[in-house]
Amino acid sequence: MKSIDISEIKEWERFYRANFINSLTGFKSVGLIGTANKNNQTNLGIFSSVVHIGSDPALIGYINRPLKAAPHTLSNIESTGVYTMNHIQENFIDKAHQTSAKYAEEISEFDSVGLTPEYINEFRAPFVKESIVKYALSLESIIPITLNDTFLVIGKVISVHLPSSIIGEDGFIKLDEAGSVCSNGVDAYYKTKVCNRFGYAKPDQPLKTIPS
Ligand SMILES: Cc1cc2nc3c(=O)[nH]c(=O)nc-3n(C[C@H](O)[C@H](O)[C@H](O)COP(=O)(O)O)c2cc1C
Repeated sequence: MKSIDISEIKEWERFYRANFINSLTGFKSVGLIGTANKNNQTNLGIFSSVVHIGSDPALIGYINRPLKAAPHTLSNIESTGVYTMNHIQENFIDKAHQTSAKYAEEISEFDSVGLTPEYINEFRAPFVKESIVKYALSLESIIPITLNDTFLVIGKVISVHLPSSIIGEDGFIKLDEAGSVCSNGVDAYYKTKVCNRFGYAKPDQPLKTIPS
């Protein structure tokens, strides 16, 4: 096994180092965040630092890079208070990836990459029509991380839209059946296959497997 000290990592070429560190945390949930500004100009961006904060209330966070690097999603969320998260399926990964390009504010990534804005139940932020699993969020908190000028953006789940066939009897969402992809680093996407599901672990009882 190779052991690498941070002093060595700091000496690496910056893109090599970024690829290495970006992959270190493992496979990530990746999604497209749909927003609109005050004039209803739409915006779509790909984000993979998405994290479950809690189930009740249902809170989901993501990390937004410094405003200079990724300004539009965050400013739309701040000004309208709402956004959507849309899972990515294999048939539109390339379009999803292209949303990471630095488009001008007046250009909608929906139009540029060829994805379709969809409005559900008069929710102000656009969903991605092509996405099979998607949910609406309302802004709860933007927490600045002064260590590196990023932001933890926390939203409350308002509604969820997905095929009923992928919701298991116990409420588990079978994302592999939806074909939702996950990502590693900022340029690799993966299909998933379930290994196992387990029952609630207790110290004095053997582990039960749950049919998936
Ligand atoms: C796979 C992938 C994952 C990304 N994840 C994030 C992320 O979690 N946070 C972030 O701020 N930017 C992330 N980006 C970069 C944004 O997509 C990019 O900065 C985008 O231009 C932001 O758009 P906006 O200015 O419209 O918000 C990611 C890019 C890719 C390709």
